[in-house]
Amino acid sequence: MRRIIIAIDGHSSTGKSTAAKQLAGHLDYVYVDTGAMYRAIAFHALSSNLVENGSLDKQALIAALPGLAISFKLNPDTHKADVYLNGTNIEKEIRTLEVSNIVSPVAEISEVRAKLVEQQQAMGQERGIVMDGRDIGTVVFPNAELKVFMTAAPEVRAKRRYDELVQRGDQVTYEEIHKNVLQRDHIDSTREDSPLIQAKDARLLDTSEMSREEQFELLKKWAMETIEAS
Ligand code: DC
Repeated sequence: MRRIIIAIDGHSSTGKSTAAKQLAGHLDYVYVDTGAMYRAIAFHALSSNLVENGSLDKQALIAALPGLAISFKLNPDTHKADVYLNGTNIEKEIRTLEVSNIVSPVAEISEVRAKLVEQQQAMGQERGIVMDGRDIGTVVFPNAELKVFMTAAPEVRAKRRYDELVQRGDQVTYEEIHKNVLQRDHIDSTREDSPLIQAKDARLLDTSEMSREEQFELLKKWAMETIEAS
């Protein structure tokens, strides 16, 4: 069976990563969470004191980029790929609200995007890949055989994110999560370089009223149809 490239883009907290991971497992494809790569750079900015009063020192971050190596390694306990920055596992550190609050300004920087897009394209060279992000179907793999654009109402996404963080033991309020979701939507959709938009040939998947099982079933159907037709 031909191995294809599946690009899954969409707003934050739409269930993209879960669905993409499940689909990759089902097809025995590689799964790449590109948001984790932007988060790794944002984590570096925070831990190197390049953020002061919420404002990011973009020039200093650009200067640091050549020294930042991002990689993924399978975690035998969770069976998921953890993200590493210069050899250190930072999977847990990149999921905090602090990182979420600074990641959109980091992802606006063209030098950051160029570095990560190059690495992502190299990861897809052997095909058989499910990659999720914001610009996969538009910039990283404009020729991907299957493109999906996932969305859901902001309130539904904020509630999902809130439940996830509370379950982890984080002290957060629904209001701050809702604010972060709206802020990220705005920055991601209006930035100059590679804004979040639905590719013309992407299929729309609105998950507002869909269970994870329903999302997975539909994605599986689309993937199998595309693989058989290609
Ligand atoms: O999917 P996520 O919430 O982990 O992504 C974190 C941030 O990274 C998000 O605010 C937008 C940015 N991002 C991006 O600009 N391009 C991608 N391909 C993936 C993520």
